[in-house]
Amino acid sequence: MTINAATPQKKTLMTRRQFFAWAWAAAIVALGGQAIAMLVRFIQPVSTSGFGGLVRAGKVDEFTPGSISQIKAGRFFLYRMNDGSFLAMYQKCTHLGCSVPWVPDEDQFHCPCHGTLFDKTGQVLGGPAPRPLDLFSVVIKNGEVFVDTGNPIQRQKFDPSQTMKA
Ligand code: FES
Repeated sequence: MTINAATPQKKTLMTRRQFFAWAWAAAIVALGGQAIAMLVRFIQPVSTSGFGGLVRAGKVDEFTPGSISQIKAGRFFLYRMNDGSFLAMYQKCTHLGCSVPWVPDEDQFHCPCHGTLFDKTGQVLGGPAPRPLDLFSVVIKNGEVFVDTGNPIQRQKFDPSQTMKA
């Protein structure tokens, strides 16, 4: 079979102009989609997730002043202080990372691994831990307590400015 060299070839590729027109259209559709997604997220109520995100602890009134509550889904303890403010502490020991339980009979946190003791505000009372329990930011919205478990905050001591007023 021979091919006639004089026969014009069919153009199957798009022109440069068509390519850029398609690229612009695709970019505009993508940006529009992102804008709609951001708008939907903005108008939705606060959403919560598990550890590593925003965790709903409960209604403000569920926590009596002076109480320590463990929020297992968020791996933190929520201390409602006597003045009604909140302090959220990561349950991870600042020594070697063991999970530290609250021991009501001792009125302190007591790490089972190497014995570090922490007071209600997470300050070291004794043992090898080099610093207090890390904090998480507390957000109070519509009478509910949320804790941002995405960014543990290191500190050298307790300070009342670390608490969130209800
Ligand atoms: S891991 Fe807690 S004291 Fe060592």
